[in-house]
Amino acid sequence: MINTDLSKGYVDIPFEGSDVREEIERLKKEQNAVVLAHYYAEPEIQDIADFVGDSLALAQWAKKTSADVIVMCGVHFMGETAKILCPDRKVLVPDLNAGCSLADSCDAEAFGEFVRNNPDHTVISYVNTTAAVKFHTDIVVTSSNARQIVESLPAEEKIIFGPDRNLGNYINSITGRSMRLWDGACHVHEKFSLEKILDLKKQYPDAKVLAHPECKKVILTVADHIGSTAALLNFAVNDDASTFIVATESGILHEMQKKCPQKTFIPAPPMDSTCACNECNFMRLNTLQKLYNTLRYELPEIQVDENIRERAKLPIERMLEISAELGL
Ligand code: 13P
Ligand code: SF4
Repeated sequence: MINTDLSKGYVDIPFEGSDVREEIERLKKEQNAVVLAHYYAEPEIQDIADFVGDSLALAQWAKKTSADVIVMCGVHFMGETAKILCPDRKVLVPDLNAGCSLADSCDAEAFGEFVRNNPDHTVISYVNTTAAVKFHTDIVVTSSNARQIVESLPAEEKIIFGPDRNLGNYINSITGRSMRLWDGACHVHEKFSLEKILDLKKQYPDAKVLAHPECKKVILTVADHIGSTAALLNFAVNDDASTFIVATESGILHEMQKKCPQKTFIPAPPMDSTCACNECNFMRLNTLQKLYNTLRYELPEIQVDENIRERAKLPIERMLEISAELGL
């Protein structure tokens, strides 16, 4: 009997065939499964996925797919978002340990209290949150649409924004709003070194700096372009510069390099150069072996409590509706 025990958070059965990629393709067809991957996933995962995108695109794809099985090669909240939108589908993740330090920086109970203490505020939550935090939310945003969604609200509207303080401060600075912020952050984006980026700028004076808005303000100050992973990729494709220093998780360099083989992309270094801190250890838990087992055994599956799902769906749907109206 095969042991599909999930005590490790994933099915730990060694692959014994000869070609794991071929087997993944076969299983995708057999199960009518779609594999979605975030730009931060390992290059080999991105290459085998049916769609690669940013958080907004992954939610949009999950909502429109006709596949019976959705495999989310991202992190847990991305799988949860897909399940919230598609309760009748099987949503699988290769490894349940793929969490998110930013989502973890926002405890749902404490966030609920923050909301209750600010009763006259509209609650905006970044998609990098658990379903339980989305339960307390009026509108979800991603870094692709946060600015436009905030600007779509009346100027006098009082807003709570959580959990990313860097994204929240950035949105406040470009919209002139004064949203009340939750004090959370991502461990990858907080670690980029300004000194090392400036050293690289000396070495490559024509290079442009691309930064994700989850980075600290000092990094955003030296950025030529700030945006979501998809926006940074788009900028790199369309801009005339030939060299870019990229201050976000380094997985995005794979798609940048694929789309622009003639350009040079340099990952922004973290403060501690002895670690690979510009890699999200959670995203990197998704491997071909685990993806194979996920498809083969249809495990681990994302489950969301139905009461939470019904309520958490509202702010996600609202985000998707506003994004569609805005053409995002
Ligand atoms: P994007 O929405 O830009 O894909 O960002 C997701 C994320 O987790 C950033 O750390
Ligand atoms: Fe979460 Fe940061 Fe990883 Fe993005 S890079 S998934 S915010 S821990």
